[in-house]
Amino acid sequence: MRKNKRDFINSAFTILTLDDDPIMTATLQSYFQIAGYHIDVENDPYKAIERIRNCHYDILLLDYLMNPICGDQVVEEIRKFDRDIFIILLTGHKSLAPPIKTIRELDIQGYYEKSDRFDQLELLVESCVKSIRQLRTIRGYQDSTAALIEAMPQIYSLENTNCVGENILNKIIELLNCKNGFLKLNFPKDEGVEIQEFIVGEGIPGAKGLTLNALAERFSGKNQDETIFHAGLYDERENPIGFLAVGFEQAPTIFQSQLFQLFVRQCSSALSNTQLLSKINRSYYDMIQVIRQMVDAKDIYTRGHSDRVAYFSYRLASALKKDESFCERVKMAGLFHDVGKIGIPDEILISDRKLTAEEFGIIKLHPMKSHSILSVVSYFKEIAPIVLQHHERIDGLGYPHGLKGEAICEEARIVAIADAFDAMISTRRYSSALSISEAVEQLRIYGGTQFDSHMAEVFIEVIKDWDKLTAELELCDKL
Ligand SMILES: [Fe+2]
Repeated sequence: MRKNKRDFINSAFTILTLDDDPIMTATLQSYFQIAGYHIDVENDPYKAIERIRNCHYDILLLDYLMNPICGDQVVEEIRKFDRDIFIILLTGHKSLAPPIKTIRELDIQGYYEKSDRFDQLELLVESCVKSIRQLRTIRGYQDSTAALIEAMPQIYSLENTNCVGENILNKIIELLNCKNGFLKLNFPKDEGVEIQEFIVGEGIPGAKGLTLNALAERFSGKNQDETIFHAGLYDERENPIGFLAVGFEQAPTIFQSQLFQLFVRQCSSALSNTQLLSKINRSYYDMIQVIRQMVDAKDIYTRGHSDRVAYFSYRLASALKKDESFCERVKMAGLFHDVGKIGIPDEILISDRKLTAEEFGIIKLHPMKSHSILSVVSYFKEIAPIVLQHHERIDGLGYPHGLKGEAICEEARIVAIADAFDAMISTRRYSSALSISEAVEQLRIYGGTQFDSHMAEVFIEVIKDWDKLTAELELCDKL
């Protein structure tokens, strides 16, 4: 009766017994098998060492006096590669036991004086099992915490609300090693709330399409499915912002439960940060738009310039067969390339007279000023370096850093062409507008010195259809 109760629990622990007396090992095997343990037998000390090296054992029961080497020497070898195995030394008589100092040094958990009855030995084994179980619990927590610590920087670094949900769900599924998951996010936006649902595997039965309140109601109360973990996600003001649930194929462990709860807490906080960041990004974007329009409006001759540079940059990038995210990047860079001019005094920026070298030096600071304005928020982090380089030249005679050839990023080489082309075809206070054919001529002349010659040629192809381009430009008042 007693053994049956313990069978299941004890079978989770493996024992190796080593004695050069086969009768002793057979007896021990039989006794501990009855107690529900998985127990293997070895009669050769060297073979036992190899076996422990290659297989996992929780407990070693070994004889002290053996041939060709004694128990303490066996333990010494084993401790060189396994500090975890619990060891109980069996001695023929107390007086034959190794000194206590040796027992301590070799980290032997106990010794047992052989007798016809094994009750005392069984108690010793049970006490080892208790310690191993506690150690497993501690290690489980350690592993879970380590996995969570590893996962959280990725979750915290998510800035785009579109990918945050997918990443959170994938990460928890990976952490908990489960198959099904469901996440609902309610992100407050300027107008109302953006609601998103994410599903992994088969999702969670009955969750899809429910509101956060309905989800809380549906998954609360008694008699809930034990294979499902679920939790609400809240912002820093305790407003509900989401609901996360994962489903397991079999009853999850206590570690998985702890890990889920820790993850949910971290997630709520990461989501709050993401919300805050997205608010900051939005308001900063609005501010930069205002600055851009102010720069354009400062000078009647440059009105609409940044819109056109954005448009030409986008068209050139498309013609160069760049992917959509690249094209969008150059469009944004074109739009904001001159925001740094906000810091340049009007008497210099819109001066009718010839500028002094010192004044021109101040104008030349604008790519760096644009860069520093745009670098403030992560939203613009990809376009800030492009903007910084939009006055660099292929021959290295540009500014601010005099970069040469391919040291200038592709995006900046594109914006440089679009920027110069728009300046050529616009009337400026110091020059009249060139015709399209004259501007094309300039692009050809300066291809390879000011401009990337291949890009300039591609751009010339793009503007061959000038009537279509101007019609499109008129259509999109704002890009
Ligand atoms: Fe510029």
